[in-house]
Amino acid sequence: MSISSDNPLREDLLSRQVAKPCSLVIFGATGDLTHRKLIPALYNLAADNDLPPGIKVTGFARRDKTDDYWRNELAESNRKNSRSGHDPEVWEEFASNISYHRGNFNDTDAYHSLSRHLDMIDADGSTMHNRLFYLSTAPEFFPIVLENLKEAGLNQSRNGGWTRVIIEKPLGSDLTTAQELNRVLSNTFSEDDTYRIDHYLGKETAQNIMILRFANAIFEPLWRSRFIEQVQITCAEDLGMEGGRGGYYDTAGATRDMVQNHLLQLLCLIAMEPPTDLSADSVRDEKVKVLRSLRRMGPEEVERNIVRAQYTHGEINDESVPGYLQEERIADESKTESYVAMRIFIDNWRWEGTPFYVRMGKRLPKKATEISLHLKSPPNVLFQKLPSIDGSNVLTMRIQPDEGMSVRMLSKLPGNTLQIEPVKMDFHYLSSFGKGSPEAYERLLLDAMAGDATLFARRDEVENAWLFIDAIESAWHEHEQPPPMAEYPAGSWGPPEADQLLAERGHHWREL
Ligand code: BG6
Repeated sequence: MSISSDNPLREDLLSRQVAKPCSLVIFGATGDLTHRKLIPALYNLAADNDLPPGIKVTGFARRDKTDDYWRNELAESNRKNSRSGHDPEVWEEFASNISYHRGNFNDTDAYHSLSRHLDMIDADGSTMHNRLFYLSTAPEFFPIVLENLKEAGLNQSRNGGWTRVIIEKPLGSDLTTAQELNRVLSNTFSEDDTYRIDHYLGKETAQNIMILRFANAIFEPLWRSRFIEQVQITCAEDLGMEGGRGGYYDTAGATRDMVQNHLLQLLCLIAMEPPTDLSADSVRDEKVKVLRSLRRMGPEEVERNIVRAQYTHGEINDESVPGYLQEERIADESKTESYVAMRIFIDNWRWEGTPFYVRMGKRLPKKATEISLHLKSPPNVLFQKLPSIDGSNVLTMRIQPDEGMSVRMLSKLPGNTLQIEPVKMDFHYLSSFGKGSPEAYERLLLDAMAGDATLFARRDEVENAWLFIDAIESAWHEHEQPPPMAEYPAGSWGPPEADQLLAERGHHWREL
């Protein structure tokens, strides 16, 4: 890709700030996310020499542990979860900057002692007095941790350093609870210092959507309803309720768990207008405009445009797996969906009339996230005598796995007769660039250390997304005659009702 040096896009990319040293404090230090994602991400940054020198990691959690005990636990999980393996030398160097601080989330004294602990770490000047608090606890602890940080004065910047907070989903369970959380957040940290993480935005291919759209002349003119017949966003997972997740999941469901955040974020990147520049606010302004243009659905529209379903017993990879209602910690008569398929309309100038089909399901045949844009067919005047063939060009972005892109087009089959066949132009990150993509958390942690919030959700994004989702949840759970819950066997691609949803307009789901 060549971008001329006077191109503002390039200047913005080059002027991105660099990550600064800091003390990173993880609340929920013994939790799953810390072990599976955060520590491996930091380790991999260290291994690639991308971690700023002077990073000090402090874990804050309830259980009593020594620094060494916690480091050993982390080494164990890093061995299992690091994308680039585990080099003992790199680990030792990285782990020498890790410490553990025991405390209950509601114990005010523990925050005062944390403050003294951080002052001690700051004393040699290596952290430049910068502090990054990472809230990776269960969501019910968010307010208490924030209030205690404030009470201990830990939300204040000092000695020329900065103080920021990263907060994990779920960011509320509806608009009201999200607003309440945002109120507590804004009482403690300014919006500029608040980083609401949505790890899908840190995925390499999600970041590539803007480059694809705004740095390539070939796509931009077509990127509108005049040429695009339909858009599909699919997030399929083969996992079910492993690891005791049922308890949380049954209170959330596919829509709150994945659509409100990850999938609507992807939809925004596909649908938004070009931002005026690449600053965090310009990009997020455009995403908010998309969210505000989503056609709101009343109960009847929900029934017409959305299919929800639960998996029943089935087979995945030759293994028999239980149905959703038989999973651990799922209510006997649960009305929570493990699958959802939506037909969404964006009522704005660019997208008028183009359906965006968004689906997410647990216990589908495999793990894959993909976005496809299906172009309108050309006039069928020249080749109409040939056997009919689906002639639409499809641009597919594979978010994961096998990150890349492909374009489907029609071509003449070599030979002396006129036969047309679909062919695919394919781009794979791995073969084109010779290296795999970093994990989303690597990029996002660096961005928070650099003060770049572009890939984090702003308050109004989260709230507007909830506004859209709340109407759907209310049609399901508060309406007198809620739309039915469909079923699909585990290991299948979802219920027939979801196929019907697309068939109504002559569309069908892309095979993944
Ligand atoms: C999380 C959801 O946010 O994202 C999980 O809570 C889901 O239910 C996960 O499995 C998927 O993330 P990824 O990166 O594995 O696609």
